[in-house]
Amino acid sequence: MGHLQPPPSPQSQPLAPASRPQPPILAVESVTKHYRRGSERIVALTDLSFSIDAPEVVAIAGPSGSGKSTLLNLLARFDVPDSGEVRLDGQDLASISPAALDEFRNRKLGFVFQQFNLLPVLSALENVELALAPQALSRAQRRERAIAMLERVGMGYRLAHKPGELSGGQQQRVAIARALVGRPRFVIADEPTGNLDSKTAAEILQLISELNQTMQTTFVIATHDPRVMQLANSVIELADGQRIG
Ligand SMILES: Nc1ncnc2c1ncn2[C@@H]1O[C@H](COP(=O)(O)OP(=O)(O)OP(=O)(O)O)[C@@H](O)[C@H]1O
Ligand SMILES: [Mg+2]
Repeated sequence: MGHLQPPPSPQSQPLAPASRPQPPILAVESVTKHYRRGSERIVALTDLSFSIDAPEVVAIAGPSGSGKSTLLNLLARFDVPDSGEVRLDGQDLASISPAALDEFRNRKLGFVFQQFNLLPVLSALENVELALAPQALSRAQRRERAIAMLERVGMGYRLAHKPGELSGGQQQRVAIARALVGRPRFVIADEPTGNLDSKTAAEILQLISELNQTMQTTFVIATHDPRVMQLANSVIELADGQRIG
């Protein structure tokens, strides 16, 4: 008796997890990056900021040399900014130790390139399976997931074909399957339509848009292609390393 505590006031109760504000999916804050070539100092990005709060298709637009690939390299933690921060899901990428980088990229990121970059000696299926190698899955599970992902991108009928036996658009579909099979939060794409004719480019963009919605994957796409900018939910426009839109 006499030890009863007064009930805690509502203000002192811990916040329920659901009401805790979520960090942005991607936050780029006052990022500056320069390169040095001998005595020359090349400023590639100056005081760049933007953030993405929902799984979106984000276009990074701007002329050649404006800093698009530099930005993608920072997002993939291939490089770190001189100043400012890049955070994915609230994690400052500069804080990831070199030993933890492979694990970070395997878990969070997928990559799509202009040249597709599939391994020429492997079949479509083997290229996609290979992306699951770091995961603790049986061979059968890897195969099953790779086939399901290839079916999802419309390539279920070309599993045994090697990249050289596929059209450019088909290779890019396989590359997209490879990027997404591990269900990353982010796919980073540098000019994914740059090597495709206009009709095929439109089909690939349609596929990216569908996958963004059905898999809740954020796509960050560096591009000159006005169709990508039309389709994107956000456009970050760069000129000489600065944000102009
Ligand atoms: N490793 C490097 N060393 C020195 N300068 C670099 C390096 N990488 C890029 N740059 C310079 O930084 C600037 C931005 O280059 P970046 O590759 O990011 O442009 P981009 O927008 O991707 O161009 P593109 O559309 O041609 O791919 C350019 O002036 C470029 O010459
Ligand atoms: Mg580039």
